[in-house]
Amino acid sequence: MASEKTVETTGLMGWIDTRFPATKLWKEHLSEYYAPKNFNFWYFFGSLALLVLVLQIVTGIFLVMHYKPDAAKAFESVEYIMREVPGGWIIRYMHSTGASAFFIVVYLHMFRGLLYGSYRKPRELVWVFGCMIFLCLMAEAFFGYLLPWGQMSYWGAQVIVNLFSAIPFIGPDLSLMIRGDYVVGDATLNRFFSFHVIAIPLVLLGLVAAHVIALHEVGSNNPDGIEIKKLKDDKGHPLDGIPFHPYYSVHDLLGVAVFLIIFSAVLFFAPEMGGYFLEYNNFIPADPLKTPPHIAPVWYFTPFYSILRATTAEFLWVLGIAAVLFLLLVLLTVRSKLSKLIATVAVAAMCLGMAIFDAKFWGVVAMGASTLIFFALPWIDNSPVKSIRYRPGWHKWLLGLFVIAFVVLGYFGVQPPSPVGERISQTLTIIYFGFFALMPWWSKMGTFKPVPDRVTFEAH
Ligand code: HEM
Repeated sequence: MASEKTVETTGLMGWIDTRFPATKLWKEHLSEYYAPKNFNFWYFFGSLALLVLVLQIVTGIFLVMHYKPDAAKAFESVEYIMREVPGGWIIRYMHSTGASAFFIVVYLHMFRGLLYGSYRKPRELVWVFGCMIFLCLMAEAFFGYLLPWGQMSYWGAQVIVNLFSAIPFIGPDLSLMIRGDYVVGDATLNRFFSFHVIAIPLVLLGLVAAHVIALHEVGSNNPDGIEIKKLKDDKGHPLDGIPFHPYYSVHDLLGVAVFLIIFSAVLFFAPEMGGYFLEYNNFIPADPLKTPPHIAPVWYFTPFYSILRATTAEFLWVLGIAAVLFLLLVLLTVRSKLSKLIATVAVAAMCLGMAIFDAKFWGVVAMGASTLIFFALPWIDNSPVKSIRYRPGWHKWLLGLFVIAFVVLGYFGVQPPSPVGERISQTLTIIYFGFFALMPWWSKMGTFKPVPDRVTFEAH
């Protein structure tokens, strides 16, 4: 309507605003985006993830200026960057440390979601976009790791691409298609380079935009899990909300400062992080004739890799029995006939499949399922409250157990295979999947605390 003047129409900003909604966007997403005033430590990691994303893109641009995606030159071009290019070493270490930092920040960001039920209605799509970002991030890291063309790059890619050959019928052709050759080679390096520098980053940027737009549509959750939009003042602003800018833009700068101090400490004093951020074997050029005795992926993949290794032929029996018990639970406690039918068909198909396909295939399925299962969270958590603060005390212990299972699986994933490690990983795999599979039941059990109308906040 002509009478509703929301933005300036004179001066430079007026000129821009009549052609592009700059002020409108600024207000909607920053100066008039009302965020709950009780954000805590866990709310630093969203903005930090944005920071690391920018860091990776900027350092990546400079690396590409000197890197050669050619199997005969890739390794030496990275050494050239490290030794000859002015500032090349710091750019490279920022990028390699940035990859690990990205996963640390994103894992903590996801954990916050679990703590405060941030994936619950109405934030399901924020979470789904987040899960898609997580998958892209893993693909991005996997493709990037081949590029230095060291021993671990080469053999890691060989192992992971070979996993696809375990898929029945199409597997061998699929892995051939991914590699572009019968073994990992120049064709593989070229296509991984193309995916790493352009395809995945484009998708990632689009997803991050969708993630933040979806969040700003519904508004942020908070440590109390209270919807602040329910109580508004006479201007229509949430009573417990404060404008993101300047309050949280300044607040987040504290997180950025602390992050940069820790990041610089790693960068300058331990860029390889004892072989966890950059594996020692990767300082040896790729040699297709010499398989390293122990091939392990980088730490951020190892919880999922452990689940893959835990899935032995013997363990399939345990998984089969667990699936049948799960089906019994569904049949005895769920009322919906459709859910009963779906569960019966799924468990029957799984048991039949276990008799036909080998453990290698099921290992790949279990590993895939362990990353995809996060998508289901908004629909399997039946708790009457969102935040852990108002849930029964033992819910904290369950969440703690899940985190321990995740971390210890990660630990065993970097260790060489051993009988003890295998047994522990199998137990933890059951705990990992049990946490999600039984969530529809345990999430509504116990005594919940009353949720207040207003957020808990003490001025500081
Ligand atoms: C490149 C990676 C990512 C970036 C840049 C990013 C960015 C952000 C930002 C800026 C926020 C708002 C600030 C905050 O609440 O901390 C946010 C919120 C959120 N993110 Fe992400 N995110 C990323 C990955 C993920 C992943 C992998 C998940 C989950 C699988 C996720 C789930 C969420 C949820 C549920 C919220 C809302 C939290 C709340 O309101 O309590 N994000 N994200």
